[in-house]
Amino acid sequence: MAPVSESDAAKGRVRRYFDREVDGYLDAYQPGRSGDARRDTFRERRDLVLGMTPASARRVLDIGAGPGVFTRQLLDRGADCWVVDLSHEMVATASRHVPGDLRRACFMVGDLDRLPFADGSFDAALCVGVLQYLPSLEFALAELARVTARGGHVIVTFPNAQSPLNRLHRVAITVARAARAVAARLGLAATPDPSRLTFRRDIPNRGFSTDEIERFASAAGLTTDKAVYHVLQFPFSVPGFGALVGAWNRFVRGRSLRGPFVRWGREGILRLARAG
Ligand SMILES: C[S@@+](CC[C@H](N)C(=O)[O-])C[C@H]1O[C@@H](n2cnc3c(N)ncnc32)[C@H](O)[C@@H]1O
Repeated sequence: MAPVSESDAAKGRVRRYFDREVDGYLDAYQPGRSGDARRDTFRERRDLVLGMTPASARRVLDIGAGPGVFTRQLLDRGADCWVVDLSHEMVATASRHVPGDLRRACFMVGDLDRLPFADGSFDAALCVGVLQYLPSLEFALAELARVTARGGHVIVTFPNAQSPLNRLHRVAITVARAARAVAARLGLAATPDPSRLTFRRDIPNRGFSTDEIERFASAAGLTTDKAVYHVLQFPFSVPGFGALVGAWNRFVRGRSLRGPFVRWGREGILRLARAG
């Protein structure tokens, strides 16, 4: 048997993790319970991403699609969709839950680093909530650029390494891990749950600066034509806090922000154009 490379082994762990997260992702996009900051920000993010996806895009790839969170809206716009994810469970759920014209949607298990599509196959490629789990940003952006047609767009999201909120979150994780180790040594209950992604060291979960993304994007022939920084996902549910976060997300929608605003959004969304 061929040796398994470290990056393939890491991808296996990512796949197994997301195989068990299907219900969580379906729940995150459920309507209702407005004011729950976690759910509100997921739905806000979906609106932001769809708003940045050109309506003229007819062939759309959603890579790392989870349970097909954009598929229904893309099909309603008249686009043909390729819904691709590393996780078998996510793809199986997407194909069961997405109604509409299935002849215009193709559901596949696949790896972003080895996309089984010819050069220039898509008018738009969406890559939402995925880059942080990959072994190489450089490979990923090159592959996204390759499958996108000239004049087309790639839309990526990334945890914003410049955000003080994210830095604070990382400090909190380090403290929680240390507390957990001490508690375990004293034979006390092991909290927080070590199976949560936040507490796993064996799954990559990185943040990036905009410069880092743009450096690799530029090497792949992509240039930023829109950038939005929004607040995504609190590590816990904050009833009543959703209104504030929603107001910010409504403010950033449609604005291409630079300067100090970049620091506040926990997640960046870049629309990258492939030269025509
Ligand atoms: C945080 S979820 C995001 C799901 C969805 N895009 C959303 O916006 O809610 C990340 C998804 O990326 C998938 N993923 C991770 N690495 C991948 C890879 N190398 N190729 C394809 N999908 C991948 C995971 O299986 C998971 O479903």
